[in-house]
Amino acid sequence: MAETIDFFLNGELVSVQCPENETLLYLLRERVGLRSVKEGCGVGECGACTVLLEGRAVNACLLAAGKVRGRRVTTIEGLSPKGRLHPLQEGFLLMGAVQCGFCTPGLILAAHSLLEENPHPSREAIVQGLAGNLCRCTGYHDIIRAVKWAAKRMPERE
Ligand code: FES
Ligand code: FES
Repeated sequence: MAETIDFFLNGELVSVQCPENETLLYLLRERVGLRSVKEGCGVGECGACTVLLEGRAVNACLLAAGKVRGRRVTTIEGLSPKGRLHPLQEGFLLMGAVQCGFCTPGLILAAHSLLEENPHPSREAIVQGLAGNLCRCTGYHDIIRAVKWAAKRMPERE
């Protein structure tokens, strides 16, 4: 049965009609039209569907839509609200950490969550923090460089 789910999406209050137990991934892609949230494995293993819930990275394919009621959800669009690239987006571009781009929104959001918790992560902490996000193209080296680059340029709290 469809319910009304009110939540904050990239800073705006939105109201969506959908079943409580529908996935957040389906809600964002099919009902709101945010195709930046990628559907990869659909079972919590690839990280392509990563979004931020109250600032923490979560797999949207595993989260019931009803769980976001009244809470803040951020997708990649929310990192550059005025069209200005976020340091993580700049870093990924500058370091050549984007190839096909399928994994990129999820990786950047996972990195954002990591840097919120640990603003100056070691290489090992970055590897560990991004372990849930798979990339088939880049080999990860440039992704790690991009996160390190961004860490030096991000404000301590946004
Ligand atoms: S699509 Fe959600 S983790 Fe793979
Ligand atoms: S850039 Fe292609 S999967 Fe990561």
